[in-house]
Amino acid sequence: MNPAERFDRYQQRCLYDPDAGFYAAGGRAGGARGDFLTSPEVGPLFGTVLAGALRSWWEEAGSPPQWVVAEAGAGRGVLAAAVLAASASGDVPLRYVCVERSAALRAAAVELLGERATVADSLPPRADVLLANELLDNLPVRIVERTGEGWAELWVPEELRPTDLSLAVDVAVGCRLPVIEQAAAWVTAARAVAPRVVTFDYGVATTAELVDRAWLRTYAHHERGSDPFVEPGSVDITVDVAVDQLPAPTLVSTQAEWLERWGIEALVEEGRRVWAERASVGDLAAVRARSRVTEAEALCDPDGLGAFLTLEWLTPPQ
Ligand SMILES: C[S@@+](CC[C@H](N)C(=O)[O-])C[C@H]1O[C@@H](n2cnc3c(N)ncnc32)[C@H](O)[C@@H]1O
Repeated sequence: MNPAERFDRYQQRCLYDPDAGFYAAGGRAGGARGDFLTSPEVGPLFGTVLAGALRSWWEEAGSPPQWVVAEAGAGRGVLAAAVLAASASGDVPLRYVCVERSAALRAAAVELLGERATVADSLPPRADVLLANELLDNLPVRIVERTGEGWAELWVPEELRPTDLSLAVDVAVGCRLPVIEQAAAWVTAARAVAPRVVTFDYGVATTAELVDRAWLRTYAHHERGSDPFVEPGSVDITVDVAVDQLPAPTLVSTQAEWLERWGIEALVEEGRRVWAERASVGDLAAVRARSRVTEAEALCDPDGLGAFLTLEWLTPPQ
């Protein structure tokens, strides 16, 4: 039995222990062989839209000779592969850096991307754009509970202990809420690396909105997992991101709004046109074109991925 530990340290060990953590043991996003489905794993459309945004930002920056895009929490490199494929025929001098904490996933990314991207275990010193899909919701959280005297903190095995933390929300005694210190620190560090930081995560605008939500969830093999205390390392543990606990973003939109702003509809229309022309041929181009329609539905689903929050930090603020 492990000695008592604060919830964030327990979550850190469950997810990222180099030997027994969920991600070290091969837990990952993906279809049949994955544990949960993320936007890049729905298909290449998410990366294709992103490639268009990256191109536009490159032009806005005066079309510099190199455009460094870093992606944190890149998993097995599926988003990188889609962005690079969509950018291949263009003139953006893209240098893509995948940053991933899990050695197993870094090895998978190297296998998928080969020479097309750099795969690293920590953020580069500088990048033009820093991206992260479903990273912030996966960073360990501290958990506080409202008591008659103020706030106490959750330790594991389940026990409340005194804490230096407090939240400015008015809640009933017994209410538990997350404090996303590591996510806030990550954003601060990311902003020192890149003048544009863009994240996609499930979340809410304010901590108060978490009160009536099941804000902590576990996943394994596409099923909602059990209690996070039952089988450490066997499930992914994620938490809704409360935006008011992060450095204030410059732009906030839902994922659906963001994808619409960057042209998903036009890409779907193009897919419909190609499918209409090539359906009788039934080749890969035709099938890919048709799949854009179903991918867009999943990516913009207001009850699913479409309701995710896209947060952008521009430095200096614009
Ligand atoms: C939920 S997965 C998302 C993977 C991928 N972005 C996707 O959308 O399919 C979160 C990933 O972030 C990685 N991760 C967690 N903390 C990290 C950190 N501080 N730096 C880099 N990667 C990290 C995990 O190992 C895991 O692969």
